[in-house]
Amino acid sequence: MNIFSRFGCRVYQGIMFLAAKALDFSPREIISGNFAPEELAKKLSLHHASRPFVLIDPFIEKSGMAEPIISSLSSEGMKVVTYSDIVPNPTVDSVEKASDKYVAFLCDCLIAIGGGSTIDTAKAVAIKVAYPNKKLSDFKGVLKVHRKLPILIAIPTTAGTGSEVTLATVVVDSKKKDKFAIEDPKLIPSTAVFYPKLLSELPPSLIASTGMDAFTHAIESYIGKSNVKQTKEDALKAMVLIHRYLLKFQSESKNEAYALDMLEASYLAGRAFTRAYVGYVHALAHALGGEYNVGHGYANAILLPYVLRSYGKSIETKLAEISDRLELVPKSYSKDEKARNFLAYLDNLLLKLGLPDSFDGLIKEEDVPKLAIHASKEGNPLYPVPKEMGARELAEILRKADKSLRRPK
Ligand SMILES: [Fe+2]
Repeated sequence: MNIFSRFGCRVYQGIMFLAAKALDFSPREIISGNFAPEELAKKLSLHHASRPFVLIDPFIEKSGMAEPIISSLSSEGMKVVTYSDIVPNPTVDSVEKASDKYVAFLCDCLIAIGGGSTIDTAKAVAIKVAYPNKKLSDFKGVLKVHRKLPILIAIPTTAGTGSEVTLATVVVDSKKKDKFAIEDPKLIPSTAVFYPKLLSELPPSLIASTGMDAFTHAIESYIGKSNVKQTKEDALKAMVLIHRYLLKFQSESKNEAYALDMLEASYLAGRAFTRAYVGYVHALAHALGGEYNVGHGYANAILLPYVLRSYGKSIETKLAEISDRLELVPKSYSKDEKARNFLAYLDNLLLKLGLPDSFDGLIKEEDVPKLAIHASKEGNPLYPVPKEMGARELAEILRKADKSLRRPK
């Protein structure tokens, strides 16, 4: 990327940083730990809502784990409509189908019980019902939602996406193979409920990928240039929790204390990046998700070490700070040693979680240029990354991240 483009990006990010001071990022309400399902009906009544549209992950619905929540809503006199036709990467079509049902049943509020896809679908449904005559793609980008949205209560059943606290929803336009983000503080759910029982049956692979999504949120927001004191602290606290509990939770998903620790980590990392943004790991993962429908956390996990290494010296101090907070090596080590050690720690963490260290044939060489352009358009000028890169540099990262594309040395 040339010097003029870099300068333009930094000016844009500076303006966004100042504009963000006028926006309401304040954390909404959290209900954690001793949650009584009856509380939900009372919350909705406070907002004069009585006809909840409950979007529920199909696996959670089948397992019956959310039954106490649904039946308590009904017994408190709520007219509940459930919807479980959730797709892993929400599409424009799937959102429209859900919003048609919301309208047909005269619903007046939303409850999302599921992972990032379910909560993101609920956010997109909220936009669609507030703007029935507009296309979702009209809201692509930042600060395009001006109308009041229905109340949304988010009950995450995975620990990682942070969608229960973020201002973003990510939707795929399958026809255009475009995965786009809509970002607006109006999308932050009004209440996030942490109910660890719902996480007890999570498969280890999903715990790994969603946990690494949270780690990526924390790292990308921490190394970015739009941090404030609060986002730095949130990101570091999230990283400490992930460092201590992700592997433990993966081997013992029924342990409610570990589930709550990881829910808190996900929440803190989500709160950090919703104010301080993500970076090129997410931009590239979104491009891969749109093209190949690869899981978001999985793509982030694999891309993370490659993107961090490509930032080089520009993140050395920040990685050394993270290393100190995680107490990976003695504080007397040099910055360079701490940074290198953190990257080695990350490689090792992926290995222990059972995640691969590269893609293997997922990315096709002929797709690389357009994937890199997609990522560059998403990341530039919006993301306040530590080192600006254009499509050419991002293409090189993709080639390194898929071993089938590596050139012989
Ligand atoms: Fe993410």
